Amino acid sequence: MKQEVQWTSLMDAPLIRTEIPGKKSTELLAIQDKLETSSRSYTTFFRLAIDRGIGSTLVDVDGNVFIDWFGGVAVMNLGHGNPIVINAIKEQLDKITHLTEIPTEARINYLKRLNEVLPAGMRDRSRVMFTVTGGDACEAAVSLARHMTGKRTIIAFAGSYHGIAGGIVNATSNTHYREYAGFYNSNFFHVPYPYQYRFPWPVDKEDISKSVVGYIENIMRDHYSGVPPVAGILVEPIQGEGGYVVPPDDFLPMLRETADKFSIPLIIDEVQSGIGRTGRIWASEHYNVTPDIMCISKSIGGGIPISSIAYRSDYDNIPPAFHLGTYRGNPLGLAAGASILEYLKDSNILDRVRTKGEYLKRRMIEVQEGSRIIGEVRGKGYMIGMEIVKRGSKEPDGKAASAIRESMLKSGVLMHTCGHYSNVMRFMAPLTIEDQLLDKGLEVLSESVKKTEG
Ligand SMILES: Cc1ncc(COP(=O)(O)O)c(C=O)c1O
Repeated sequence: MKQEVQWTSLMDAPLIRTEIPGKKSTELLAIQDKLETSSRSYTTFFRLAIDRGIGSTLVDVDGNVFIDWFGGVAVMNLGHGNPIVINAIKEQLDKITHLTEIPTEARINYLKRLNEVLPAGMRDRSRVMFTVTGGDACEAAVSLARHMTGKRTIIAFAGSYHGIAGGIVNATSNTHYREYAGFYNSNFFHVPYPYQYRFPWPVDKEDISKSVVGYIENIMRDHYSGVPPVAGILVEPIQGEGGYVVPPDDFLPMLRETADKFSIPLIIDEVQSGIGRTGRIWASEHYNVTPDIMCISKSIGGGIPISSIAYRSDYDNIPPAFHLGTYRGNPLGLAAGASILEYLKDSNILDRVRTKGEYLKRRMIEVQEGSRIIGEVRGKGYMIGMEIVKRGSKEPDGKAASAIRESMLKSGVLMHTCGHYSNVMRFMAPLTIEDQLLDKGLEVLSESVKKTEG
């Protein structure tokens, strides 16, 4: 039986009762500023303190109610406090909250649920390795690719973001941990992503994928390319932090062919684009491409930090303790994850995300048509970017994007930016957001664009 969508948001949002930040937020922010590192980023954009999250709404400590188009950086795909997820966590809370690799029912249930929703070519043919964060999963993926090929260089893409974890393994004394992990700058070679709006060299739009993939093949074929032997290709199926960039349809299939041709793993990083964000459980499913190794994190734990890689079972001849960590596979996260995957599979939420995503894009294109500072609107499902430029040009305008974000915040909508120049407004609301909150958010976005432009 199909599960119903859980509608729980506060429908009077946005409701702004005080200055932002309000008095109580200001007090808490002052203490945070005094006691916590200044090395923070989100608290420079969103100056407020939160009391609680309900569905796709947030209530700050001064009682202001916000529409959440931020979702804790694309983590809360089923919204805050979703009863399905909360009940799964509560049930687990009474049993055990931390262990190790020793199985619990939560762990086995998660493994079964994940296997059921893996891309068709991976289902029943994959193994899962638990990690903790998105960056940790990407590290494990890269180590595995190196182990499989005996080579060290990874092809990555301009605009990519795979985390900033890593390096500390070099300080660990047992050398076997350092055999495949432990990276240096020189172990990665970045090539352009097929970012049609800002591609670095002149090429016809329809030839962009061919141009990028041809370049990669040339690197691997030419012993004078200057790039050491390649161990794998690491790619986001739709780029997240790089600007919500959707590649041409032929790009991932071409990368798949190239990886096969050169017998190297294709590592697909679904940390941000996965778990239904684009209207399919995995963004790579839009392109019918099967990864050799897939990185999974963010929304899978419903706010509890868990992550993993899934990889071809014929890669599974790795030594024990290949990639370690005390907190891998936390039972609370696994219980949350299993409930989320079951819900995505059994509800009609993904159909809704695809249809509503198209609606949102259309409405944002209408805003673009009435503006001269929106260069492009692009995306799939609920992963939509709006690129802000200097009036009537293609020159990126991060300052204007930041002004739009600030104006939206003051009007009660959290919307963040991304992109090479921090100039892309990004829609990453929970998949369970109500229609009215989409429309109210769109009004606030449109007004804020007008205000910034004026
Ligand atoms: C595609 C992608 N991969 C990896 C990461 C890193 O995840 P984490 O911040 O959990 O290390 C991110 C984070 O935004 C991401 O978007």
